[in-house]
Amino acid sequence: MQLKDRVAVVTGAGQGIGAAVAKAYAKEGAKVAVIDLDQATADRVAGQIVEAGGQAIGVACDVSNREQVEAMAAKVNAEWGRIDILVNNAGITRTAMLNKMTPDQWNQVLGVHLTGAFNCLQAVVGGMIERQYGRIIYVTSTAGVLGTIGQINYSAAKAGVLGMTKSTAKELARYNITANAIAPGAATPMTETIRTDERFKEKYLDRIPLGRWAEPEEITPVFVFFASDASGYVTGQILAADGGLTIH
Ligand SMILES: NC(=O)c1ccc[n+]([C@@H]2O[C@H](COP(=O)([O-])OP(=O)(O)OC[C@H]3O[C@@H](n4cnc5c(N)ncnc54)[C@H](O)[C@@H]3O)[C@@H](O)[C@H]2O)c1
Repeated sequence: MQLKDRVAVVTGAGQGIGAAVAKAYAKEGAKVAVIDLDQATADRVAGQIVEAGGQAIGVACDVSNREQVEAMAAKVNAEWGRIDILVNNAGITRTAMLNKMTPDQWNQVLGVHLTGAFNCLQAVVGGMIERQYGRIIYVTSTAGVLGTIGQINYSAAKAGVLGMTKSTAKELARYNITANAIAPGAATPMTETIRTDERFKEKYLDRIPLGRWAEPEEITPVFVFFASDASGYVTGQILAADGGLTIH
């Protein structure tokens, strides 16, 4: 077991990639806090983990809300005494062409991906510094590297996450805390339009050297690696599990 007795907080774990990561961490022996907007959604995934023999709790929390994030971290610390691993996975899209994008659509996306990740980082980092151990994992996207039509907000947020990853890595290395980012390929409902809409599907698939979409479970091993002791000498890196889409 690569994460035995580690405590992990996975945001946006009520479905999709986050849920798959939470389950993979539990299988590797971690105690997992499943964070999502709605308590019932978080509890559902936590319940599935417990049913499978793992340890998990569900915590309702909007990561863009600082008070809720602080309360969430306090709850996890009260339950398990520490937080060793943070996965900043919660995400949304608000798609619109840039001349039609509303300030709300811009702010909401930056609020979850950037402010949300920053809130969670600050809520857990004090304990990690004290214990001289931590694994911070950000979730970026090929959109942050290549840009995407209709997603200037999302592309900006995901490019911002890359900057956060590198700053976090440089600043926290002295405390034995690593920070890395994963750029998943298209999987889960978030990317349903590009995977199913005839206008985009073939064009997008043609650009993926492996020639197929990802399953969330194909991306989780990278999350396990960055959370584990095996990645102790790896920090500030971006790993794209994207079927080769971003090969330059
Ligand atoms: N799906 C993909 O193909 C893909 C590709 C590249 C990057 N990503 C990134 O991976 C991450 C997960 O994506 P996914 O496809 O699993 O998404 P998803 O939409 O399936 O799940 C995201 C989860 O985050 C939760 N969430 C949204 N806002 C939140 C908030 N403010 N606070 C707490 N939870 C919140 C949602 O309720 C949902 O359960 C996101 O950061 C996304 O940008 C996804």
